[in-house]
Amino acid sequence: MVNIIEADQLGKRNGLPDNLRELLKKYPRDTWGDDILNGNWVGYWLGRHSVFKEISLAINQSLQKILDNNISINKFLNDYVQLMNLMLKNLNSHHTVEDNYIFPKFSQKIEKFSYGLDLLENDHHLIHSSIDNVILEGNSLIKTINNNKTLDIKKVVGSYKVVNDEFNKLLMAHLNDEEDLLIPLVVKHGENYFNLGH
Ligand SMILES: [Fe+2]
Ligand SMILES: [Fe+2]
Repeated sequence: MVNIIEADQLGKRNGLPDNLRELLKKYPRDTWGDDILNGNWVGYWLGRHSVFKEISLAINQSLQKILDNNISINKFLNDYVQLMNLMLKNLNSHHTVEDNYIFPKFSQKIEKFSYGLDLLENDHHLIHSSIDNVILEGNSLIKTINNNKTLDIKKVVGSYKVVNDEFNKLLMAHLNDEEDLLIPLVVKHGENYFNLGH
C-alpha cells in the first residue's frame, strides 16, 4: 500500500481528491440510473452502506433523546449498547470484504485507480481508530452512568457526543467518497467487467 498524502487523508480532504475525480465528472451522481443502482453487486453494496447510515442515525437519535430527557436512562443504555455492537460487527465485516475481495477486483483491472483504492483502505484504518476511541469513550460513559445515578446526564452525554460526531463525520465522508470512486467505474465498464459478486 502506498502512502496517502496528508491533504488526501479522511477528515482532511473535502470529497475525492481532484486527480481521482475524472470519471465522477463524466458520470456524476445524478446520472447514475436505476439499472446501475439496482445492479446485482451495486444494489447489495449500497444496501450495506444504507445499513451504516441507519445505525448512525439511530445512535444519534438515541443520544438526542437522552439529552432532551425523552428516554429513560436504562432504555438509552440498552439501545446504545445494541446499536454500537451492530455498528462494530457490520463495519468489521464490510471493510474486510472490501479490502480483501472488492478493491483487488477493481485494482486488477484499473491500474491507475490503485491510489484511490489505497486511499479507501487507509480510510478504513482511520475509521477503525476512530471507532476504537468511540468504544472507549462509550464504555466510560456507561460506567459513569451506572456508578452515579445522580450525575448531570446532559453533561456526560454531551461530551461523549463530540467523539461520536467526529466518528460519524469520518464514516459518512468515507461512504460518500467510496461510492464516488467506484460507481463511475461500474457505470463505464459494467459489473461483469470487474467480476463482482457478493
Ligand atoms: Fe469502505
Ligand atoms: Fe463500503
